[in-house]
Amino acid sequence: MDTLRWIGDSATGKLALIDQTRLPGECIEIELQTAEQVWEAIKMLRVRGAPAIGIAAAYGMVIGMQSADSDDVGSWFSQLEKVIDYLASSRPTAVNLFWALDRQRQVAERLRKSQSLEEIATALLDEAGAIHEEDRQMCRAIGRHGAGLLANTSGVLTHCNAGGLATADYGTALAVIFSAHEDGKKLHVYADETRPLLQGARLTAWELKQRGIDVTVICDSTAAQVMREGRVQAVITGADRIAANGDVANKIGTYQLALVAAAHEIPFYVAAPTSTFDLSLENGNQIPIEQRNSGEVTHIFGYQTVPDGVDVYNPAFDVTPAHLIRALICEKGIIDPVTRQEVKNIV
Ligand code: MRU
Repeated sequence: MDTLRWIGDSATGKLALIDQTRLPGECIEIELQTAEQVWEAIKMLRVRGAPAIGIAAAYGMVIGMQSADSDDVGSWFSQLEKVIDYLASSRPTAVNLFWALDRQRQVAERLRKSQSLEEIATALLDEAGAIHEEDRQMCRAIGRHGAGLLANTSGVLTHCNAGGLATADYGTALAVIFSAHEDGKKLHVYADETRPLLQGARLTAWELKQRGIDVTVICDSTAAQVMREGRVQAVITGADRIAANGDVANKIGTYQLALVAAAHEIPFYVAAPTSTFDLSLENGNQIPIEQRNSGEVTHIFGYQTVPDGVDVYNPAFDVTPAHLIRALICEKGIIDPVTRQEVKNIV
């Protein structure tokens, strides 16, 4: 089943996607037919992972414009801006969301004078399809570039889910593992469970098992011990936003993993497409960090684990400074060393 797929034309079509909140118990597809449903699916992590969020938002623009008045250019373009602002308010950290919405705005504005509104709506669907297909290609290229980095590795640790579910279909961090595996490399993957929403336990373990790759799920707090025991020779994660100096925002817990990897002299790699780089930001301090509901910490799938009235702090992401990252892997190649200059040279 595809992580996301479009059904129909631009005028009446809809977005189908795997509801990732139901995995691993059930792999079911839901169909989204309103901008509100797309917003909710992104907010609630039914679709998640930076590239997949961008793809969903690009298709969400097509859906959000289906109700626009196609007899009035001014009102059509004013709805376009409203839909962009609305979808942009779903989650703040993954830059792919804003990048995809901006691409859609540029397509509409470029055609404003020369095409009918129906043609522009079709062009929005074409652009969403292009973003989707480009992501597929980028993920494959990331896998090819990164696989060689695992040549002397038998155990690798990853955090959260940066696999096919987080992208068009092959992943970023997991693409490197998939690609090495396809080359015949035998790898054992340690997947952090990734509290509070367990993307590692629920999604990464599911994807690796489906592909026949050995996987062991560990509590997040077990990572240092796994390194101390010599079980892993590399750590690889995805990213939600990368600043111009190479600082990386990724799922909460990534920063402490990078610190622990440095303490054990284990290389820490980050894999992400260029659509995840935000060169307008000097460094990671400027990346907005999403704060999520305390209920994600106080309750585990409906069961209360924290006493009533106790305060909770629940940032969804953290920032890993560039100096802790051995290399960034993107579809254009490997950024090593991770410096402002090298990011500028390659991205
Ligand atoms: O909150 P999520 O599940 O959307 O967070 C996702 C991550 O942090 C991933 O590691 C990151 O987006 C990379 S996805 C290829």
